[in-house]
Amino acid sequence: MLVWREAMSTGHAEIDKAQKQFIAHINQFETALRQSGPDTAIGLFLTGLYDQAAINFSREEKVQRESSFPFLDAHHREHRVLLDRLAGIQNQYQAMPHKADHGQLLQDLAGLIKDWVSHHMVQSDVMLRRYMPHHPPHQPARARP
Ligand SMILES: [Fe+2]
Repeated sequence: MLVWREAMSTGHAEIDKAQKQFIAHINQFETALRQSGPDTAIGLFLTGLYDQAAINFSREEKVQRESSFPFLDAHHREHRVLLDRLAGIQNQYQAMPHKADHGQLLQDLAGLIKDWVSHHMVQSDVMLRRYMPHHPPHQPARARP
C-alpha cells in the first residue's frame, strides 16, 4: 500500500489533494486486483483516469507558470509522456478480450504507476515547493531573546 508523506508535498494544497486522491486510487486498484481479478480491477482503475490526470496536469502547469517555475517545459513533457503511456494502456485494455491473459498489461501498468509516483511525483512535482510563496526553504528556529 502506498502512503502519501509530507515529503511529497508540492506546497500547493489543491495539487497535494489531487495527488493524495491518485495514491488512494492506486491503493483501491491493488485491493480490487486481489478481490476481483485483473480485468475488473484494470477497468475500474482506468475509468476516468485519463481525463482526471489531464485536468490535474493542466492545473499543475498553470500553477507552475504563475510561480515562474523554471522547469516548466521539461515538466510539461513528462506529463505528456505519462498521458501517452496511459492512453496506450487504455487502448490495449479496450482491445483485449475479458478472458485474455492480462499479465503483460499489468506489468505495463505497474511500470507506469511506478514511474508516475517514484519518479514524477517524488522527484519532479516536489520541485515546485521552493517556488510556492508560503513555503520558503526551511529555516532553523531562532532562539528567542
Ligand atoms: Fe507534474
